[in-house]
Amino acid sequence: MTTDELEQLLARQPMALLHRLARGRVHRHFRAGKRRLIELLLQYSSTNRAGLESDLQALLEVRQPRQDPGGRPKHAPPPGTRKQLPAQAPIPAVMEPAISLAGWLEGIGVPAPQPFVPDPWQIEALSAVSETDVVISVPTGSGKTYVAVEAARRAMEDNRTVIYTSPLKALSNTKYTEFSRLFGSDKVGILTGDRQENGQAPLLIMTTEILRNLLYDAASGEIDVRLDTLGLVILDESQYLADPERGVVWEETIIFCPSQARLLLLSASIGNPQDIADWLTSIRPTACRLVRHSKRTVPLRAGYLHPNGKLTPLFRTLGIPYGHPNQLHPEAKRLFLEYEEETLPSGRPRR
Ligand SMILES: Nc1ncnc2c1ncn2[C@@H]1O[C@H](COP(=O)(O)OP(=O)(O)OP(=O)(O)O)[C@@H](O)[C@H]1O
Ligand SMILES: [Mg+2]
Repeated sequence: MTTDELEQLLARQPMALLHRLARGRVHRHFRAGKRRLIELLLQYSSTNRAGLESDLQALLEVRQPRQDPGGRPKHAPPPGTRKQLPAQAPIPAVMEPAISLAGWLEGIGVPAPQPFVPDPWQIEALSAVSETDVVISVPTGSGKTYVAVEAARRAMEDNRTVIYTSPLKALSNTKYTEFSRLFGSDKVGILTGDRQENGQAPLLIMTTEILRNLLYDAASGEIDVRLDTLGLVILDESQYLADPERGVVWEETIIFCPSQARLLLLSASIGNPQDIADWLTSIRPTACRLVRHSKRTVPLRAGYLHPNGKLTPLFRTLGIPYGHPNQLHPEAKRLFLEYEEETLPSGRPRR
């Protein structure tokens, strides 16, 4: 449809329909007169024409009067008694039908148990960390913990101390419970601002800030933890290096980390992992290896949960259509608008 055809089609529609179309697209649309509203909709259409046309088509379909079995619209005057309107230009069908909620939820649940087989990148990372520092950059849910646990197990078998850090006390607590279950509670300690337990254990969980402070103290001769036997330092969530406020803590921890210990940086979302690995190589005694891949083991599905409890897929498709914002699910759109209507303080359009 050309812009002229779209303009003519809009001009033939009642204000109520134009306002519905303008919701979420035109700021304060209810204040505009018809000509101005059409102008604003046309302006908007230059950025997302397909989405506008698809919604217009949906609104027109809703407005179509029901057909009687004879094919003539109910309440319509017999043929010939009213001047026929020019045929409306067809609107191209631009999208596939949207996925249903049941289809979107399908397959989510606990998978059937099966034997554990490490992925190739996990094997590669474990073999690398026995020789050198390693940066792992793989998507969320890939299994970084397995590498951390196995590397820690091997270091402890070699009578080396292991330190595992996370950016959050809550995550440190979780890992303390998880690792205590795996290795036995006598083998694991925790040091955070709130908790100090079993500080002489061979595997110590702490926040990165605490480790940085320990390394500061060690540099000034006050050694709290047996840093001389330190064999492995695991920095989980190491994308915090890029944090404007806390990044310096990760930076200093890496700089002050004893040279005999291996560093293992785990991250799901470093944009430039090679730069980090190159930096480690430049300041540490051994070359740092980068292990990375970007294929998601667990695909993402996006949903929208309205405050009233209604759940709907966020997009028309099961996967996330990156770069196609006009692929929003019609039900999600409707719920957004409903929410907007409920929360707009004043001046909202009357139905
Ligand atoms: N090779 C594997 N095969 C099958 N499942 C695995 C494998 N490795 C790990 N997992 C499972 O994948 C899930 C996610 O693992 P994990 O928590 O280690 O991910 P992660 O990479 O640390 O994610 P995040 O970025 O969220 O911290 C766990 O349930 C784990 O048992
Ligand atoms: Mg993890």
